[in-house]
Amino acid sequence: MSRDPTDRLFRNARLVTLADAAGYGLIEDGVLHVREGRIAWVGRAADLPETLRGRSEDVEDLGGALLTPGLIDCHTHLVFAGERIGEFEQRLTGVDYQTIARNGGGIAATVRATRAAGEDALVAAALPRARALVADGVTTLEIKSGYGLDTASELRMLRAARRLGATLGVGVRTTFLGAHALPPDYAGRADAYIDLVCDEMLPAVADAGLADAVDAFCEGIGFDPAQTRRVFERARALGLPVKLHADQLSDLGGAALSAGFGGLSADHVEYTGADGARAMAAAGTVAVLLPGAFVCLREERRPPVDLFRREGVAMAVATDCNPGTSPLLSLRLAMALACAQFRLTPEEALRGATVNAARALGLDDRGRLAPGLRADLAVWDAAQPAELSYWLGGPCARAVYAGGRRLR
Ligand code: NIG
Ligand code: FE
Repeated sequence: MSRDPTDRLFRNARLVTLADAAGYGLIEDGVLHVREGRIAWVGRAADLPETLRGRSEDVEDLGGALLTPGLIDCHTHLVFAGERIGEFEQRLTGVDYQTIARNGGGIAATVRATRAAGEDALVAAALPRARALVADGVTTLEIKSGYGLDTASELRMLRAARRLGATLGVGVRTTFLGAHALPPDYAGRADAYIDLVCDEMLPAVADAGLADAVDAFCEGIGFDPAQTRRVFERARALGLPVKLHADQLSDLGGAALSAGFGGLSADHVEYTGADGARAMAAAGTVAVLLPGAFVCLREERRPPVDLFRREGVAMAVATDCNPGTSPLLSLRLAMALACAQFRLTPEEALRGATVNAARALGLDDRGRLAPGLRADLAVWDAAQPAELSYWLGGPCARAVYAGGRRLR
């Protein structure tokens, strides 16, 4: 029998299990045993089963370091070509995001660059970005399409996203975001474009098995609720779960719309009101908070965190990494910003980047430390879990494992 390369015993760890519905689930002097890419045993050293006690091979003494579940970035636009640095400078002089979008910049600028790039070029451009996320503890990331906006280019983006996962050995979940913006060739014909999304793109993406979920941008500069609903209806018919860029710049009832379709998440949600939050709570739709876009767009309206708490809406935190509104390459920094800007507690921020992020992706095999779950782990040079949301940048994870294999 060949040796299991993932078989490893971590000892002398401060385990942040997040095993219960609240609290860090901290275990001092903890031990975690990995076998066949999964967590085989987790608990206090004092309770270690006899069979593991005398073990000396493939044992790692963490010297009291924190061991958490690998972080999960549940909302990114990581695959794209080009950059939008000129637009960044323009925004600093007072031109706003919507105006830039209406003048053919914004998402449309990235669409031009992405359409011109081949699959290899897309992978090559995204690799360093994905590596930066991994360096900061990420073991699963979601990647959206939405910069192709024609069938071939959207498929190419999704293939590139899947290749990133295979190349780096990280978990990648792909989301089809064909209804991200109106491509220039459909100017003034949004409904016709939604026909294309529903009748051609979505079936092609589903057929190729390239998407794990379907997203849309429901906004004044995106698509209206009726158009979004059409996309969601087709997604449902194809058996694909939905999530939504909802209520970011105005309240179009996006959060409730996503919840109405049993959506995995409603993302941004700055303008979401009480009805939206209640609908989310009832449907189990996660609120994905994206402080990077909030900060970079210098928004003033904060997501209704207190309302989400009161209604029992689970909150996740993600980078929204994209070339326009959130060129953010650290999920830990997103957590820190969620605390500083949205007043999340560090515990909420960590749950938001692990267990709740997993939920926002429809995954129940990761995000906590418990037997049977994937051995997606991050080891930190930190004394307490709140420290992960405390530093703005600085030293990264000491070690990162996905499926029990060391990534760095
Ligand atoms: O999540 N809101 C729409 N989509 C992205 C921005 C994409 C872009 O500007 O390129 C977001 O903020
Ligand atoms: Fe986004």
